[in-house]
Amino acid sequence: MKKKNVIAIDGPAGAGKSTIAKIVAKKLGYIYIDTGAMYRALTWKALDEKTDLADIDAIVALARKTDVELKNSGGKLLVFVDGRDVSSEIRKENISKHTNETASMGGVRNILRQKQQEMGARGGVVMEGRDIGTCVFPDAKYKFYLDASIDERARRRYNQLLKKGEKVNLARIKTAIAERDYKDKNRGINPLRCADDAEVIDSTHLSLKEVAKVILDYVGLDYVRNKKRQR
Ligand code: DC
Repeated sequence: MKKKNVIAIDGPAGAGKSTIAKIVAKKLGYIYIDTGAMYRALTWKALDEKTDLADIDAIVALARKTDVELKNSGGKLLVFVDGRDVSSEIRKENISKHTNETASMGGVRNILRQKQQEMGARGGVVMEGRDIGTCVFPDAKYKFYLDASIDERARRRYNQLLKKGEKVNLARIKTAIAERDYKDKNRGINPLRCADDAEVIDSTHLSLKEVAKVILDYVGLDYVRNKKRQR
């Protein structure tokens, strides 16, 4: 099978996937696709419209009719729901808390997976999420599983929120991350799992730049190897 020119980056919350994916995409001139933002956008719409998150049929119908658009603009990712910019709203704690509910629905995942496959069909994308290497693009040319210890992930999130001027509590952040890990890994459909053929990167003791370099070196080395093979 010919492998798709897709770089899949999966891993748990707070491992630095978004930042890394953005750096790698920029360096390679690829399109960056944040699939978590798509699940968040749908959750935002459901809450905004007061659709019951427990009503699977209603949420799946909403997923079918909602237009979610991702735009890369000046190094930032903008997210639009039916034309409205919800980029900041979808990052709020309430959305983080509830997104797992919509992401656990098979019908929702089928609809979003199809959209993601269409977005990456022509290749030249860095796509990050939880199931990219296992389900969305199992034939991706490059797969990475980015991980870090829970303490380090909590510390990074803590610093991020502190920078934004928010009131934060490290222990509470750690508990929230542990809960999200559990839900992501134990979901009945497409749980977070490392693909058998993914490169695992533990970023606990690495800076974001160092992780990006590991990925870029890997992609670059493979490119050189392939060229040699073709000669
Ligand atoms: O990466 P994130 O924190 O923005 O993801 C938000 C939620 O969406 C999180 O609960 C995991 C879920 N998600 C998913 O189930 N599958 C994906 N491919 C991406 C995210």
